[in-house]
Amino acid sequence: MEVVIVPDARAGGELIAGAMASLLRGRPDAVLGVATGSTPLPVYQALAGLVRAGEADVSRARIAQLDEYVGLPAGHPESYRSVLRREVLEPLGIEEDAFLGPDGTAADLPAACAAYERALAEAGGVDLQLLGIGTDGHIGFNEPCSSLASRTRLKTLTEQTRKDNARFFGGDVEQVPRHVITQGIGTILDARHLVLLATGEGKAEAVAAAVEGPVAAVCPASALQLHPHATVVVDEAAASRLR
Ligand code: F6R
Repeated sequence: MEVVIVPDARAGGELIAGAMASLLRGRPDAVLGVATGSTPLPVYQALAGLVRAGEADVSRARIAQLDEYVGLPAGHPESYRSVLRREVLEPLGIEEDAFLGPDGTAADLPAACAAYERALAEAGGVDLQLLGIGTDGHIGFNEPCSSLASRTRLKTLTEQTRKDNARFFGGDVEQVPRHVITQGIGTILDARHLVLLATGEGKAEAVAAAVEGPVAAVCPASALQLHPHATVVVDEAAASRLR
């Protein structure tokens, strides 16, 4: 695992967008795994800037979703599909048919999870997976004590994560869904390059546990230590608890 300390979130975004652009130069139809939440936004903004400047070509790129809320109606503005359409697909000019994601509205959710695993495999796997990290060390929506070998499945969010995400639902934790579909930790580890971005003091404990703690299910992000090509990009504040 390599740890890169950058001055701020914007620099982290530029670094990772540059890595995506370089991947796409060698493999124009690469599968970019994307995360939602606040942390990755500087990456998407920087990548859109590179596209506008003619320094990145995303015309054949495919985009794969990490996780999704269960039970939000199709088109709900906070479903992760809607968020990714708004933050990634539209600014980058990527068509909907280049987008892979699990169906959080499916009547048969286990079948939807299995279908997403199949779709990822048929796409040839994820080339670069961008990850954020929860304050409790979660990646995707694999909360603490998720199996390190887990595959895409239904999960229940912890109260902490629902509180953390209430800001996207008008501050009302009751509006945050209780259940999600998430790529499992084993699924995430199948990606060829994992890039975790963490910014701000609030992530410092989780980053230290992930990078320097034992590999353990209590800190799902510690699974990155098992991956042959994992990069952790942190700003000074998120790096502040590293030894
Ligand atoms: C969302 C996801 C989550 C977030 C994490 C951090 O797709 O995978 O693991 O990355 O909850 O969220 P932010 O970036 O909002 O602090």
